[in-house]
Amino acid sequence: MAVRSAGQGILAEENKEKREEIIGLLTKAYWMEIETVMSYVANSVNPDGVRAQEIVESLSEDVQEELGHAQQFAQRIKELYGVVPGSLEFQAEQSYLQPPEQQTDIVHVIKGVIEAETGAIEHYTRIIEATDGVDWVTQDMVIEILHDEEGHRRLFEGFLREYEAEGLA
Ligand SMILES: [Fe+2]
Ligand SMILES: [Fe+2]
Repeated sequence: MAVRSAGQGILAEENKEKREEIIGLLTKAYWMEIETVMSYVANSVNPDGVRAQEIVESLSEDVQEELGHAQQFAQRIKELYGVVPGSLEFQAEQSYLQPPEQQTDIVHVIKGVIEAETGAIEHYTRIIEATDGVDWVTQDMVIEILHDEEGHRRLFEGFLREYEAEGLA
């Protein structure tokens, strides 16, 4: 007996095109998380100085969280009948999170993190819109991840505010 296919919803045969669109969006999200892991590993180790400690600790914790996001995106790509891409397809985009000239330049790191989180927030909002009414499970998952990214951005905005108040940013 043939396996019964999903009668409706995002796994249905007639939703193939929509599914492919969502897989494309999820794949971009997956790469964004992977690159963020790389950037946060580097920026949680490189900074020098007493003032860097808070940033360094916060970014080391975020590495695990962003890695978890990458795994969630990968899992969802699979569930939608997609294939998680191999490393050769990776293309770096985070020019703003490269190591600064001076490793005491914490403001550079803080601004880079805010930029990365803002990019994630924008892209995940796009996924939430694209899945509305057609793929509730992806939408629900991405809403939760969006919540994490908003928390990250808010935390680093707070760090930046402190530097601005002291005339250092
Ligand atoms: Fe993330
Ligand atoms: Fe984040």
